[in-house]
Amino acid sequence: MTTPSLLILPGDGIGPEVMAEVRKIIDWMGAKRGLDFDVSEDLVGGAAYDKHGTPLHDDTMAKAQEVDAVLLGAVGGPKYDVLDFSVKPERGLLRLRKEMDLYANLRPAQCFDALSDFSSLKQEVVAGLDIMIIRELTSGVYFGEPRGIHKEGNERVGINTQRYTESEIARVARSAFEMARKRGNKVCSMEKANVMESGILWRDVVQEIHDAEYPDVELSHMYADAGAMQLTRWPKQFDVIVTDNLFGDLLSDLAAMLTGSLGMLPSASLGAPMANGRPKALYEPVHGSAPDIAGQGKANPIACILSFAMALRYSFDLGDEATRVERAVEQVLADGLRTADLMGPEGGVPVSTSGMGDAIVAALDASL
Ligand code: NAD
Ligand code: IPM
Ligand code: MN
Repeated sequence: MTTPSLLILPGDGIGPEVMAEVRKIIDWMGAKRGLDFDVSEDLVGGAAYDKHGTPLHDDTMAKAQEVDAVLLGAVGGPKYDVLDFSVKPERGLLRLRKEMDLYANLRPAQCFDALSDFSSLKQEVVAGLDIMIIRELTSGVYFGEPRGIHKEGNERVGINTQRYTESEIARVARSAFEMARKRGNKVCSMEKANVMESGILWRDVVQEIHDAEYPDVELSHMYADAGAMQLTRWPKQFDVIVTDNLFGDLLSDLAAMLTGSLGMLPSASLGAPMANGRPKALYEPVHGSAPDIAGQGKANPIACILSFAMALRYSFDLGDEATRVERAVEQVLADGLRTADLMGPEGGVPVSTSGMGDAIVAALDASL
């Protein structure tokens, strides 16, 4: 078997800091489990702009298309606010998603027992929570045409277009139903069919795919604003949520706070299968470059480490090893170790970014 290849794109701000901790887990897998990865590293976002004048060099894009999986840290930061829109760090990430056609963005929100009293919501609302948000990632208002800022008479007009084709909705709906069959067998689809034609089509197509191919899965529909309310009122009513690009962006940040911190939430962005049968894939934490804490050793590396665990599960068929990493994370949290973002009134053992990574490696050692 050829060694699986991984392209690591640490990016900006806390991206490189959390990725350094993921490297420890990758090294551990090689040393202790005989699982070697052919790892290469490159630039994305502001770091790529600083070197090449573009947030994603064509060579990096080409490499991303060839490897078995891409792991990304985070992009962006105030230093780049002044740049022209076309070369902003975020454009690099959006190009990766679009050109790799990563249409299904899996954003699980799981509340670890040790953190159930840490959420801003009541413990009984979040304890045991385990939901999966599937966000459409390559279309919708993020990419629709026409777009831009132009002059109409004396004033400027900003335009973005929400656009979905039937096939774009159908493929992400299938991802959601497939996922539900492996979990609680329930899908809730969220749109705003009450005000948007694209929402009407979304609802119709999700229902059609359900009726024709997945009648065994329980399907419900909700307006996305009501969905946001229900997610904070009683999130455990949900199993899989499927929604569009923009609503998915908002709802997954909201779901992050059910788990305690944005620093906890991983994601997988999956596309169609490649020739080797593996899906095109990019894994990244849901959080951004956190400029307010960058360079201080305060970042929580768990979201990025759990993103690597998702890579083990979805790209490399190593579900058992993924579970091993997830258990190790659970263990250090149960032991009371807390990066600053997880430090509540009840206290805990304060650890730095690298302290958290080292503790997870130690917990992995203990799992053998
Ligand atoms: P952010 O996620 O970077 O930060 C929001 C808040 O959460 C901050 O207070 C931050 O300190 C905290 N936080 C985030 N991750 C954390 C972690 N791992 N550990 C501890 N605390 C953490 O969002 P923002 O401030 O809105 O955006 C900052 C920059 O990041 C912007 O340029 C934005 O475009 C970019 N961004 C990038 C991605 C990505 O690369 N996927 C995602 C979101 C935002
Ligand atoms: C995310 C981020 C990105 C998005 C930005 C950085 C392009 O917020 O991954 O959630 O809006 O999709
Ligand atoms: Mn976001």
